[in-house]
Amino acid sequence: MAQTPDPEKHKYVSSKAALFEESVIRKMTQVCLQHGGVNLAQGFPDFPTPPEIQEACIKAIRDGHNQYARTWGAPSMVEALAEKMLWFQGMRIDPGSEVTICCGTTEAMIASLLATIDPGDEVIVTSPFYENYGADTILCGAVPRYVTLHPTPGGFEFDRDELAAAFTSRTRGIIVNTPNNPTGKVYSRDEHQFIADLCIRHDVLVFTDEIYEHILYDGRTHIAIATLPGMAERTITIGGLSKTYSVTGWRVAWAIAAPPITAAIRKVHDFLTVGAPHPMQVAGAAALRLPKSFYSDLARDYSRRRDMMWTGLKAASFTGHYPEGAYYIMCDVTPFLRAGEDDTAFALRLVKEAGVATVPGSSFYSPPLLGNRQIRFCFCKKDETLADAAIRLRQWTECNRP
Ligand SMILES: Cc1ncc(COP(=O)(O)O)c(C=O)c1O
Repeated sequence: MAQTPDPEKHKYVSSKAALFEESVIRKMTQVCLQHGGVNLAQGFPDFPTPPEIQEACIKAIRDGHNQYARTWGAPSMVEALAEKMLWFQGMRIDPGSEVTICCGTTEAMIASLLATIDPGDEVIVTSPFYENYGADTILCGAVPRYVTLHPTPGGFEFDRDELAAAFTSRTRGIIVNTPNNPTGKVYSRDEHQFIADLCIRHDVLVFTDEIYEHILYDGRTHIAIATLPGMAERTITIGGLSKTYSVTGWRVAWAIAAPPITAAIRKVHDFLTVGAPHPMQVAGAAALRLPKSFYSDLARDYSRRRDMMWTGLKAASFTGHYPEGAYYIMCDVTPFLRAGEDDTAFALRLVKEAGVATVPGSSFYSPPLLGNRQIRFCFCKKDETLADAAIRLRQWTECNRP
């Protein structure tokens, strides 16, 4: 993520902005459009948003919710969120003092970091990681300390000694993302407890990105680390509408934290954005009140898509890690690489030749070199899209056998 600034190119650019590049994930979407490919790069659904959620938004607009919402969240949205967190995670939160509604999980994370981190503080990030966290740490002047999630036959795991050693006297927090993008890892209760114990011992914060909290497979259940003893006061629980309700364009999410932390997040949020889109918050309240069957259907549908993607990749000789949650599969493309070719060159070749866009693995690592033999496929797509991608990949590998 960190780049060496070029003095000429960055003449009028801040030293922070010079330290990172535009998002590779979003860039691959543009490349895909140029080549008319199937976009398995950026994680947004190509199937319609559930009709009842669409209707709720249209109604909210017609009902006149078109001006600024209360800066930290429309009353209906924060109340619906408090109700949902109670039945879903047993979290009892005060919607008046412990919630900030933000413009996407993206803003919730950066607003939370800016509200709590001072320049020079260290923030632990497991790696590979969702690429925004790298830029987020730079923007708030934090020093990221990366701890590797090691691929094992059973999935990705952190080494407990490595994680414990990453905590220093300068550590202010750790970013946890479960279910995890890009690995598909779902943290177990035991792993959560291990992280919680370290955070309590070192008196640090947890920034937990739970945007895939309903997309888990094979009977796994989501655990919010804030529910572990001693964690509510030090956890910022971040989640959003984007993935669960298939509304990535609505830009509505939340940060839940104890009142003093929330007060700081609300100030930052107010000056960053004033507020999240009002009609989408009112519709978000309706979405949050959908029956529990909505979530089991969602997990079942994603489980089918995961298996379609997995079968398609296997048939095309790609090998990766079978995800436990979220909607991505990381594959090792070493057998396909030409001499001197890296993940980015390979991903560009794949979109040009096979018409399938992916994300180069290096964008999930620091230093990027660590991921230069991997690519990420996303499968939050219609069955037809996944079937089309599988055919394209199979045809391509027939001419490009590893
Ligand atoms: C782990 C993770 N966090 C956050 C986001 C962005 O979420 P939002 O649309 O709420 O900003 C994504 C999107 O892919 C993601 O994978």
